[in-house]
Amino acid sequence: MSEPAAHKIEKLRDEIRRHEHLYYVLDAPEISDAQYDALMNELKRMEAGHPELITPDSPTQRVGGKPAEGFRKAAHSRPMLSLDNAYSAEELADWDRRVRELAGNLPVEYTAELKLDGLSVALLYTPARDGGVALSAGLTRGDGQTGEDVTSNIRTIRSVPLSVSAAQLRKAGLPQAFEVRGEAVMPEAAFQRLNEEREQQGLPPAVNPRNAAAGTLRTLEPGIVANRRLVFYAYFLLVNGEYLAAGQSATLDALTALGFRVNPHRGRVHSIEAMLKFIDEAEAGRAGLGYEIDGVVFKVDSHATQQRLGYTGRAPRWAIAYKFTAKSGMTQVREISVQVGRTGKLTPVANLEPVFIGGTTVSRATLHNADFIERLGLLVGDWVKVERGGDVIPKVVEVIEDAEHPRGKHRFQFPARCPECGSEVVRAESEVDWRCVNADCPAKLRESLLHFGRREVMNIEGLGDAVVQQLLDRGMVRSVADLYSLTEPQLVGLERFAEKSARTLLNEIERSKKAGLARVLMGLGIRFVGERTAELLAQEFGSMDALMAAAAEELERVEEVGPRISEAILEFFSRPANRALVESLRKAGVDMTAEKKHRSDKLAGLTFVLTGTLPHLTRDEARQKIEAAGGKTAGSVSRKTSYVVAGEEAGSKLDKAQELKIPVIDEAGLLAMLEAEQK
Ligand code: IVH
Repeated sequence: MSEPAAHKIEKLRDEIRRHEHLYYVLDAPEISDAQYDALMNELKRMEAGHPELITPDSPTQRVGGKPAEGFRKAAHSRPMLSLDNAYSAEELADWDRRVRELAGNLPVEYTAELKLDGLSVALLYTPARDGGVALSAGLTRGDGQTGEDVTSNIRTIRSVPLSVSAAQLRKAGLPQAFEVRGEAVMPEAAFQRLNEEREQQGLPPAVNPRNAAAGTLRTLEPGIVANRRLVFYAYFLLVNGEYLAAGQSATLDALTALGFRVNPHRGRVHSIEAMLKFIDEAEAGRAGLGYEIDGVVFKVDSHATQQRLGYTGRAPRWAIAYKFTAKSGMTQVREISVQVGRTGKLTPVANLEPVFIGGTTVSRATLHNADFIERLGLLVGDWVKVERGGDVIPKVVEVIEDAEHPRGKHRFQFPARCPECGSEVVRAESEVDWRCVNADCPAKLRESLLHFGRREVMNIEGLGDAVVQQLLDRGMVRSVADLYSLTEPQLVGLERFAEKSARTLLNEIERSKKAGLARVLMGLGIRFVGERTAELLAQEFGSMDALMAAAAEELERVEEVGPRISEAILEFFSRPANRALVESLRKAGVDMTAEKKHRSDKLAGLTFVLTGTLPHLTRDEARQKIEAAGGKTAGSVSRKTSYVVAGEEAGSKLDKAQELKIPVIDEAGLLAMLEAEQK
């Protein structure tokens, strides 16, 4: 070991790291690009002379080893959740009110952050030399539980520190292992450059910076990723899978101190007025940012209050995304086609003259159903206004009827037969949708297979359009259960399928067997049973058998399940074909169990009577909450009543309660009883 060389190299690295931080994190370079390049070349030269001194966190090592075999999956330390949305000032005010209500006497203040339109990633830092830490893994969000290990690509993002020194850790009071979560975004300039390149190569343009960023992080060539100039903005810091006790504002400060790039447009707000003002300012500054945002995220600052508020199935109750209103554009309808969905539902779709709206090229927009076309008075060839908001499918919202825009020529004739299989289409009296009557319509099966494989459902990566179509064309699957008997030789026969991709898909299919009851339920495609309902049903019943044996009242005991959903579930399982499908899945080894959630019994033995209008909860919500905590509700007050919950304009029931000396509580009193047991 040559001590002086080692010392010189380390000094040079620190100098380069300082300039990278100034340039990529703080946007405040002190030296020119040429001077920076000179320092970097000097380091490369020295390292070439002393290869034994190269460390993984050296600035020269950002573009290093390639992931040989695609990306490994890795479990998150705690789920990467999503956010609930508010689309108006009223919805935001409702949320604020609920937060304050649930927070009781705990402090309520919010951090306001921009909602960056990129993709969330998790960075893991673990012990390294000299008491510091180094980046050891970078994961995508994936399905929230498990992400993909894209470390070699993350390393190329210059605003991601490859290491943090012992001194910085000490200052921030952090141990030698932590996790940083945040958003990777593609700046608009990089996006435009990418599309120019794609055009020159005769490739179709990337649709928007978010997709381009996501695609980039999954590129198998770190050199390409380095060129795309992604930027990482940090917003969460976790130690042992827990957020910092100091709260969100302090978290953002700590991240800044550690050398991470934290979005400078942030604030602390105490009132709905201040929240709305922040939103206005963000919207006003939006165009000049150089990267896309689609709203503002408010997070309860205090960690104690966050814990009190807790989580719903998919999102924290202590945060919300206010989404900017949809952007719109004008274009012409070329033609109207009809798509057949998983349930046989026919959806008319407008095929548009491509138009650029809010960073995305839109060439199709949903028209919902035949009535909607009627109501719009839409003719093929009309000019229309198209809106698109965030993740939502673009919608046609109105027909332009002015002198500059010629009207279309002919009315759209809704097909009398299914465009996929030619069978008859029917519409139930109370419904707006037309459906294909053919239970074996190939479109239904195709859409069911695609749905089954979706990330939120059984998460079978690689089961996309092209593969599904080939499986169907060759008669290799007749139901989703047939996926589980596919073999390698069968798959290798498919177009663009080599042995490796066949094996990968089979592994994915195999892995999906363990997805659990909630996902299988979603995969079955029962009407109205989406992610959240499936999860609640799974927790309540614990197994497919118990669920299939349940009567309407039992189903409706589940939070959020009413008569409409229970009827759909019963109808589904009453069909022999559906029961047979469940059996085939079971035979294939698909796990149909879930951990039963222990129902609380805090209110066990108590009977409540609800009367009057409660300030926040509907009567139904209050009833569900009481029942979920083991309590009962009754319609009239008697000596058996334990409590009367009274709201505005409570009537005779209140008098009766007073007469019988039954305790009367308000909504807050009820929530407090429920709350007390959550601890
Ligand atoms: S907090 C559990 N903060 O928005 C908390 N998310 O719609 C979820 N996003 O998946 C993340 N900017 O990818 C948070 N300042 C911000 C954000 C942000 C953008 C994204 C993130 C998340 C999605 C949810």
